[in-house]
Amino acid sequence: MQKTDWVWHNGKFIQWEEATVPFLSHSLHYSGSIFEGIRCYKTEKGPAIFRLEDHITRLFDSAKIIDMNVAWTKNNIIPACIETVKKNHLEECYIRPLLYYGGGEMGIDTLGKIADATIAVWKWGAYLGEGLETGIRIMTSSWRKPAPDSMPLNAKVSGNYTPAIMAKKEARKRGYSEALLLDPNGHVAEGPGENIFLVKNGVLFTPLTTYALNGITRDTILKLAEQEGIRCYVTSITRDQCYTADELFFTGTAAEITPIIEYDDRKIGTGTPGKITKRLKELFFSVVRGKSDSRWLTYA
Ligand SMILES: Cc1ncc(COP(=O)(O)O)c(C=O)c1O
Repeated sequence: MQKTDWVWHNGKFIQWEEATVPFLSHSLHYSGSIFEGIRCYKTEKGPAIFRLEDHITRLFDSAKIIDMNVAWTKNNIIPACIETVKKNHLEECYIRPLLYYGGGEMGIDTLGKIADATIAVWKWGAYLGEGLETGIRIMTSSWRKPAPDSMPLNAKVSGNYTPAIMAKKEARKRGYSEALLLDPNGHVAEGPGENIFLVKNGVLFTPLTTYALNGITRDTILKLAEQEGIRCYVTSITRDQCYTADELFFTGTAAEITPIIEYDDRKIGTGTPGKITKRLKELFFSVVRGKSDSRWLTYA
């Protein structure tokens, strides 16, 4: 990771090296932290943050879900993200706002605790490397998503990522780029940090958000597909439907639009990125780079 100079911390800019957490912090021991992942793209009009307000809304929704007390509001964090990009003079970057229980008494109890807030930015290229262009091979994970009454799956809480961490490593150790997690009923849920889409006979399908994060890239793709006149269904999807799909792809802020060309050692479609995937990806990059419309961009 390429470090940058400044990190926003509780309303002030501090040096990257100073941005540390106390060893006995709740967030480190019990995962008392929530975060967002946002991309800022280089455009002709300067750096543009993609769907900033939607990401920060989700951050505060996550805080509400886990009943985290935060001294900051959306109206503080949105400009702070813009300022952090500007202060580090980056044309293009990844933005990581984090709300976390940093200090205070040790123990699980968070009653009376107030979360600290930080925003870090750094340069982050394609999350799945050249797979963004060529497509990736994935496998079904032996780890599943928990039930929504066991984990708050629509909150980006650090602790939610335990199955994701194990699934990712399991897949990488077996030579795959990424994992796909099923839900407790055996339906397809999502990747460790990505939503999944399936294309069959020109129609787009993606799972409900009962067991998957309500992804902002997922929402963008649903809207772009609708504009293109591509029919979309948000519904339960099985593994066999994925095996026989014409196209599969992952979406996410980090993964962007990554084609999946092989799933559980079965070739998907022609075994190369599909036509609809390529079209939606082209539209996505044209939007994030400010080439078509700028409704979702905040210039920094
Ligand atoms: C578990 C999980 N699913 C899906 C996504 C994709 O969501 P988004 O498109 O908002 O980045 C992410 C990334 O934030 C994630 O962590």
